[in-house]
Parts: sequence; structure tokens; C-alpha cells
Amino acid sequence: MKLSKRVLALAESETLAVTAKAAAMRAAGIDVISFGAGEPDFDTPENVKEAAIKALREGQTKYPKPAAGIPAARQAVCTKLERENGLTYTPNQVIITTGGKMACTMVVHALINPGDEVIIPVPYWVSYPEFVRLAGGKPVFVRGDEERDFKITPEQLAAAITPRTRMLIFNSPSNPGGFTYTPDEVRALAAVTAGKDIAVLADEIYDRLVYGDQRPLSFAACSPEAYAQTLTLNGGSKTYAMTGWRVGYVAAPEPVIKALSKLQSQGTSGVCTFVQYGLIEALTGPQDEVERMRQAFAQRGAHIHQRLTAMPGVTCCPPTGAFYVFPNVSGTYARLGVTTSGEFTAKVLEETGVAVVPGGAFGSDQHVRLSFACGMEQIDEGMNRLEKLLKGAAATSRSAPPAEPASARR
Ligand SMILES: Cc1ncc(COP(=O)(O)O)c(C=O)c1O
Repeated sequence: MKLSKRVLALAESETLAVTAKAAAMRAAGIDVISFGAGEPDFDTPENVKEAAIKALREGQTKYPKPAAGIPAARQAVCTKLERENGLTYTPNQVIITTGGKMACTMVVHALINPGDEVIIPVPYWVSYPEFVRLAGGKPVFVRGDEERDFKITPEQLAAAITPRTRMLIFNSPSNPGGFTYTPDEVRALAAVTAGKDIAVLADEIYDRLVYGDQRPLSFAACSPEAYAQTLTLNGGSKTYAMTGWRVGYVAAPEPVIKALSKLQSQGTSGVCTFVQYGLIEALTGPQDEVERMRQAFAQRGAHIHQRLTAMPGVTCCPPTGAFYVFPNVSGTYARLGVTTSGEFTAKVLEETGVAVVPGGAFGSDQHVRLSFACGMEQIDEGMNRLEKLLKGAAATSRSAPPAEPASARR
């Protein structure tokens, strides 16, 4: 059977691939420490589970009506966005989606025509360029300077805009960078897009997971122009440890939500009805579990950052949001005899049983991504193994001639 060109051109999700490889090694009896999964190790809060169970028992087992989401779930999203983001939406400006991932896919399909350009800051979440290519669009990458925690400047954004630019995908707090734009930085970018025929997909899925004195600002909250141009995306996965529930949402101008609803009604008929009751409880019920998880992530982030930056050849921006660190490990490549983040990752997995994700998948081959959505013990064991490998390599390289460059081996 012949596969379509679209699917043949699609890359597999590297994060899921690393997680699957680590799971297969574990199943084969190998002791693997995985920093691959972008998934909280916490369980979904009990009150959220209870709400879904109650809905099931009460017979909420039919198609969701309407496909865009049951009215109470769309209202709960409005309540959350008003309370936490200072954004006023009405339920008909909201769609409940099968996770943030499906939300992104549908947004790109609803707004991008073949040849349209979509600006994506680097490093980026693996899936963004694939969504854009699948819709026939052209990703335009803008690389944030590592000295500025990878954040792009208004000047860089302005320089990337052409008459074909239709969208900016803006993700803060960032996966994979673990950085968070300050309110002033968000406003400066919003001033560049204001008034232009450019939609902004603001992926705020980590907006509750910020650390230190960071305070996130929603892109749509920057100005009336930004509100009119922005699609605000969020979901249950990260904040409420609901990854397996597959529930997310988008808030945007009503005509855009209508278009997304059309796509959703043909594609999935909407999100599992009883799951939507879980989302309502997550967004409107007690929030103390979120704070407990946030504090745990904050401690783990500070710890893993301190361990990584003590290793030879590793530099790393401190994480201020989400649950990732994105260390620059290129200073270890020569000593380890590798030339790419993929080779680094393979060597580390083979020699230490530690699974990390190659930065190449996120647009930067000098880096790797580690998720710290795992316990402190696991973090320490993984860091001990990595440190041993890197310190060993550093000691060997001091006493031995430099490794032969990969180019000479080819
Ligand atoms: C930046 C970002 N956006 C969206 C998602 C989608 O999450 P989900 O589909 O689980 O809601 C993820 C998940 O890793 C993410 O990191």
C-alpha cells in the first residue's frame, strides 16, 4: 500500500521515541533512568478523578454536545482564564480539544494555507514544525540567543516577518528551554505583531508551572490588538497531571472557534464526555495540589540545574518554568568522541542507562533535553551516572591524544 507524501515526510516524535526506547530497555531487564517524558510523575488529583467517575455513573457516556465541548466545560475555561490570566472570554470563544497536541494541529490546519510562513522560535517543541509542514506551510525558525536564555528579541521577530507570514507560535514557559518570558518581554513581542495580519498561537500549557519570582503574562493580555490576534492554548496535562485524559482547550475570536469546531466535528466528534467533567473540576475546584506539584518541580529544577552545571563541558540556563532543562553539552562532544546531540544521547544511554532527548529534535544540536518530572532519587542517580561518564571522559582526554574527529571517520 502506498503511503501519502504528507505522512512520509512526517518525523516521528523524538520525545516519544526516546521514552519508548527506555521502556523497551527496562522491559529487557536493563536498569534505565529516563529523563525523556514530558509527563508529571504525580497522579491526577483525587477530586478530578471523582468528578469523572461521578459523571460516568450518572450516564455521561454519550457523544459530547456540542462537539466543541459541553457548555459547563467551556464556561470553566472562561472562569480559569479570567481568574488566572486576566482574559475575558465567553463560552462560544472556547473549544475543548483532545489535548493540547490536537489543538495545535487543528489551529494550524484552520489558519495555514500551502506556502504560508509560520514563525517558530528556536528551541521549539518538537511537534510545531511538523504540524506546519503537514498543512503545507513553511516553518521560519528564529533562534533565541542562549545568553538571553534563548528568548527572541522584538528586533529578531520583526526581521523574520515577510508578506507571507501568517502565524507566530509562541510558547512560554518553554518546552524544551525551561525559560519564561517576562511580562515586558511578551509585551515587546506583542507590539511587533500588533495590527499585522498575523495570528499568534500562544501555547501557555505550562502557565501554572513557574518558579522563583517569575510571573507569566498571557500574550492575549498584552493589548486589545493582541487579544484579537491570539489563540490561547492550554490543557489539563501538565498543570493537573492529566496527560492520559487527553484534554486541552483553545480560546480565540468566535469565527476561529467556529472553524475549529467544524474540523473537530468531522475529525473526532469532540472530547470524551466524562473527561470534560474532570476538566471542569480541575479548573474550578481546589487548586492546592497544583501548588504542591509546582513547589516539587521548583526544587527538582534547581537541583538538577546545580548538578548539571557542576559537570565538565556542560552549561545550562536555570529553569524558570515548565519541567525541563536544556543544557548545552557540546563542550563534551570531542572528549566523548561524538559530534551530534543524537550521538551524545546514544552514547549516554548505552554507557550509563540514562535516557535524555537529543536537542536536534528541538532545533539545537548542541543541547539535550532532560525532563525533571521525576523523583529526586531518580534525578540524583541519573546525575551520578552522567557525571561519572563525563568526568571519566575529561580525565581520559587530559591523558590521551584527542579523539579522532567524526569527519575523519566517515
Ligand atoms: C509546549 C507543549 N504544548 C503542547 C503540548 C501538548 O500536550 P497535551 O497534548 O498532552 O495536552 C505539550 C506536551 O508535551 C507541550 O510540551
